[in-house]
Amino acid sequence: MAEIVVVRDQDAAGDLAARSILDLIAAKPDTVLGLATGSTPLAVYRALERGIRERGVDVSHVRGYALDEYVGLPAGHPESYRAVITREVVEPLGLTPSLIHVPNGSLDGIEHAGADYERAIAESGGVDVQLLGIGTDGHIGFNEPGSSFASITRVKTLTEQTRKDNARFFASEDDVPMHCITQGLSTILKARHLMLLAFGEGKAEALAGAVEGPVSASNPGSAIQLHPHVTVLVDEAAASRL
Ligand code: GLP
Repeated sequence: MAEIVVVRDQDAAGDLAARSILDLIAAKPDTVLGLATGSTPLAVYRALERGIRERGVDVSHVRGYALDEYVGLPAGHPESYRAVITREVVEPLGLTPSLIHVPNGSLDGIEHAGADYERAIAESGGVDVQLLGIGTDGHIGFNEPGSSFASITRVKTLTEQTRKDNARFFASEDDVPMHCITQGLSTILKARHLMLLAFGEGKAEALAGAVEGPVSASNPGSAIQLHPHVTVLVDEAAASRL
């Protein structure tokens, strides 16, 4: 059973998450963070930035693995998750760029990118704390409904709903890539601690499905029910259907 924490707002969630992550880094300087993109984890990254400054925590040995990446965007595209992680996480937090990894979404070598990424995570000793958002259709990472609970990092086709949801980051929906490379549900479940965040009414249904719904591949977020250590940080609106 996940621990559900209903907080006042995103900043309160960010502060709670950041405090626990910084405690971990203080105890284990080469902590392996599981990084998520999307708007949801931004409050955590901003709180980490403040916390690192105020507490003077050394983050130069922190390692990180992002959940997912678009496939086929030109190198350096500002909406590639590599660029987003660099801009929102690596630079503001002062992490060491060579220690932060994002799946390789370039077409060159895509056939072994998933296996390479799995190997790299395993060789790191595994993710200590995995940040997660949730899509309106219940996806975690880019594991869309129907994804196997046994899945590992692989190329997937994005659903129309996700391409619509993410169109706001691109000039038009047509510019949203058709494919992505994402950690699988079994990859995500191997992290030692999952921290799922959700804010706003738009996430209420997906969140209720993840936390209380039947455990089913048609609802990828429900995979968290199989994990022994999950913290869910939500505002009242996202918690409204629990
Ligand atoms: C994106 C990402 C997910 C993210 C989700 C929700 O497409 N691949 O990792 O959790 O959709 O995004 P947001 O936090 O912007 O609502």
